[in-house]
Amino acid sequence: MAITILKGTVVSAPALGRLDVTENGYLVAEDGVISGVFPVLPERYAGVPVEDLGNALILQSFADLHLHAPQYPMLGTGMDLPLLDWLNTYTFPTEARFADPDYARAVYRQLARELVENGTTRVCMFSSLHTEATLILMDELEKAGVTGYVGKVNMDRNGGENLQETTEVSIRETLRWLEACGDFRHVKPILTPRFTPSCTDELMAFLGKLAAERDLPVQSHLSENRAEVDWVGQLHPDCPQYWETYAKFGMWNSRTVMAHCVWCDERERRAIRDAGVTVVHCADSNQNLCSGVAPIRAMLNEGIKVALGSDIAGGDHLSMFDVTAASIRASKARRVLDDWQTDFLTVSEGWYLATSAGASYFGEQPGFAAGNPLHAIVLDDSQLPQPRPLTAAERLERCVYRRQRNAVRTVWSAGRKVFSAE
Ligand code: GUN
Ligand code: FE
Repeated sequence: MAITILKGTVVSAPALGRLDVTENGYLVAEDGVISGVFPVLPERYAGVPVEDLGNALILQSFADLHLHAPQYPMLGTGMDLPLLDWLNTYTFPTEARFADPDYARAVYRQLARELVENGTTRVCMFSSLHTEATLILMDELEKAGVTGYVGKVNMDRNGGENLQETTEVSIRETLRWLEACGDFRHVKPILTPRFTPSCTDELMAFLGKLAAERDLPVQSHLSENRAEVDWVGQLHPDCPQYWETYAKFGMWNSRTVMAHCVWCDERERRAIRDAGVTVVHCADSNQNLCSGVAPIRAMLNEGIKVALGSDIAGGDHLSMFDVTAASIRASKARRVLDDWQTDFLTVSEGWYLATSAGASYFGEQPGFAAGNPLHAIVLDDSQLPQPRPLTAAERLERCVYRRQRNAVRTVWSAGRKVFSAE
């Protein structure tokens, strides 16, 4: 059996708002599966080599539950339009280039590397509508050590000149893609109607049926922007609310992931909670595209499952350290908008959402629970001056707000060491 023992300051978020800290602790995994965090190394591991990381922080790695791989080339540009104009002007032409497999290979290799370097080891990711490029993306993620779900995007209307399939091609290519991605071990398919305006009823009905038949999860966008919500209302006059356009086609259940959810009112939020749908909060993107400020605290209070997403390239940061800080800042803006009636997210809450909450979508228990696959970041913050000796929680706060170059020393994903700065 392969045993991994990491020694350092072990910090994890086993519940919303709680941090477990074990100074000089041991994080142990057997064959890539965590057996525990121990203040003293148990007798049974005597003689096993220990990777002594000194005072470094040993943290859970991130789960990014919403991002668009083919938008990576436009990251940090095109931030001057609202959602629907932004899609037509910048995003769809950028994604159309992924018809070229060579281009896809080069871009996706770089993206996969940047993800692991930043400690993101689990994703729920959109590809483009291109089958070949989607398989290349899955291959590059798998090789780099990123785990999770990837979706070939379905869009058979409102895509524009170079980014639209016929219904027939969309159906055929989805089946071909599913056939071809059976061999990946760590990266699995997720059905991905881009959003309701992108898919005809016929395509939605096909996807809902396919999800049921093959037991596949579904990801999409929900109530991100006011103009989008109004448009969906016009497209589906039979549906009082946006969520019902997914529910009516059988794509509304506990494995469904919905990004944004900025404009969900109480009724829509109740539907989310009752079905066990996961909401992905994309704070950077919501601000960049002037979409709004999602009511994340209300959702948490109501018992909705919430995780975080970078939503590149509506979001302008791939690093989930930045995404966590942005989520906390957004919750403070929400507090002001709510007349100080809602609480902002604390750092430990933000950390929980960026790690444990997203990981639970993949079946993990919160924190470094025994039985979880080893997903961890070793973070060396020793380059920064200290105003006084900082607690582990303060060091974590500083890491969230102030990303330091080269601070991520090692990253573990599903038991494998996938990045090492040395
Ligand atoms: N809604 C439909 N497509 C997209 C997209 O690519 N990004 C965002 N932020 N929202 C969307
Ligand atoms: Fe998105």
